[in-house]
Amino acid sequence: MSQTDNFFMKRRSVVAKKMLPKPIDENDLKKIINAGIRVPDHGALNPWKIIVIKDDKLKTIDEEIILSEYKRENPNAGLQNLEIEAKRLQRASVVLAVLSTPVEHPKISKWEMVLSSGAMCMNLLSCAQSLGYAAQWLTEWYAYNNKMLQYLGGRPKIDQISGFIYIGHKVEEPTERRRPDPEKVIFYI
Ligand SMILES: Cc1cc2nc3c(=O)[nH]c(=O)nc-3n(C[C@H](O)[C@H](O)[C@H](O)COP(=O)(O)O)c2cc1C
Repeated sequence: MSQTDNFFMKRRSVVAKKMLPKPIDENDLKKIINAGIRVPDHGALNPWKIIVIKDDKLKTIDEEIILSEYKRENPNAGLQNLEIEAKRLQRASVVLAVLSTPVEHPKISKWEMVLSSGAMCMNLLSCAQSLGYAAQWLTEWYAYNNKMLQYLGGRPKIDQISGFIYIGHKVEEPTERRRPDPEKVIFYI
């Protein structure tokens, strides 16, 4: 494979609203999750968790957490916004929530544990995309909501939601987006 047709030279996310939420092959899902836990992890501390949200759970969390918390925080919200919030997770076939769950360690910093959870998100995203799925890494407002964190098994004030990896099917191939000017972000010293 040459430099230009390498998977990472072409990899693109597909926005959640453009995914088709029909079921995902169980073996593919296992591969994606296993790719996630093969992430670099200083000291093999496993300072993260993957919570698999699929089938009825997508609707349950949409209604019982996302919509209800949105209504509580935005009591005057209009119908159009409520309709969006009521179906957030249901845009995908499966949503993989990644929690950063740092542990106490005499030498390894929490920063490195948080970085590992971000890398886990990227492993999950890349693996799903390499298998031909539509996938996107999202946080949106509910990644910062305490009720959501606790529902997913996170410890408030310690754990954080690193992201929700939305996975579904492509309806069409995504077009390229604006990429950084290499000269502004890459430096050879
Ligand atoms: C930590 C993180 C959180 C993100 N959260 C959002 C979000 O809430 N809403 C959004 O539109 N894009 C969000 N994005 C951006 C998209 O996932 C993605 O970067 C964009 O669709 C282009 O991706 P691509 O370079 O893989 O094609 C987030 C990205 C990261 C890394």
